[in-house]
Amino acid sequence: GGDGLVDRYGRVARDLRVSLTDKCNLRCTYCMPAEGLPWLAGPDLLTDAEVVRLVDVAVRHLGVTEVRFTGGEPLIRPGLAGIVAAVAALTPRPRISLTTNGIGLDRVAPALAAAGLDRVNVSLDTLDADRFARLTRRPRLPDVLAGLAGARAAGLIPVKVNAVLMRGVNDDEAPALLRFALAEGYELRFIEQMPLDAQHGWDRSAMVTADEILSTLGGEFDLTPDPAGRGTAPAETWLVDGGPARVGVIASVTRPFCGDCDRTRLTADGQVRACLFATEESDLRGALRAGADDTELARRWQRAMWGKRAGHGIDDPTFLQPVRPMSAIGG
Ligand code: GTP
Ligand code: 5AD
Ligand code: SF4
Repeated sequence: GGDGLVDRYGRVARDLRVSLTDKCNLRCTYCMPAEGLPWLAGPDLLTDAEVVRLVDVAVRHLGVTEVRFTGGEPLIRPGLAGIVAAVAALTPRPRISLTTNGIGLDRVAPALAAAGLDRVNVSLDTLDADRFARLTRRPRLPDVLAGLAGARAAGLIPVKVNAVLMRGVNDDEAPALLRFALAEGYELRFIEQMPLDAQHGWDRSAMVTADEILSTLGGEFDLTPDPAGRGTAPAETWLVDGGPARVGVIASVTRPFCGDCDRTRLTADGQVRACLFATEESDLRGALRAGADDTELARRWQRAMWGKRAGHGIDDPTFLQPVRPMSAIGG
């Protein structure tokens, strides 16, 4: 019942994350194997028009105000700029953002900004070219740095940088990454690694925790809690050396924020997920292709969200990783 995407714990989802493809042009070791994954079949993907139709249902019938495009790597979806333009033309117009690995972003940032994209988040785990090539299995660090600068130049701001630290891999780079972000005017966030990799190799003891990151940064920077607070965002933020620059930590594992979650997800093949860690999905693509009207699609979406669990359950002894890896869910 009701109008919006409400769950049984009283949370309201206003932030929709849409995965536009499960494919990627990098192979980050913590995400997928070198050979890639069995990608979704073309006919199973929502078409551009189907994506826009479902986003329209979400903003016009379900109270969604924020739309984030993810992947896999969303920049490799051919119709991205057209999808952004169509979503920007919806009423009420949602805010529109993109989470990307940044490759090719320098070339398309102006067109995406013109289409109505508001801002971007770019993944960057290391500033060392050799390390980048090992970690992502592709030698593309210069492309990512160019992508970041291109996004900033196109006004896709604030440009946020996402870094996942891994013990013995890049955990020595936290201060250098922050110095870089401060110098370039990007907002850096460190992310605790979550058990969502395709290889099921996540190991709690290899995860670099928020406490470790903050204590390392504290040796070089003066961090004070951001008076703006976290709201419903996953990132907890600190002012750096008095501000206005900020640094964030997304501590999904050691400081879960599920109680404040305001998110709903749509996969590239048109399945609604109430949570990153949901074990169930609701098939909106099937309903849409069978001719369901907006009201019916909205009702199905609401039903899917009502089943959202209280939390991700990573700490439960019975925890099982979702069947789909992060790259197919959309971060
Ligand atoms: P903004 O703060 O709106 O810019 O976005 P964001 O930080 O939420 O999104 P982004 O796509 O940059 O994701 C950053 C990290 O947060 C990734 O590791 C995501 O998997 C993670 N993340 C995003 N949403 C959720 C969520 O609902 N729950 C958890 N546990 N992690 C999330
Ligand atoms: N845990 C946490 N973050 C992850 N990302 C990819 N895999 C994981 C994981 N298992 C990050 C990417 C990107 C963001 C969308 O999610 O590095 O910055
Ligand atoms: Fe890396 Fe993101 Fe691609 Fe995974 S989906 S391989 S994290 S860029």
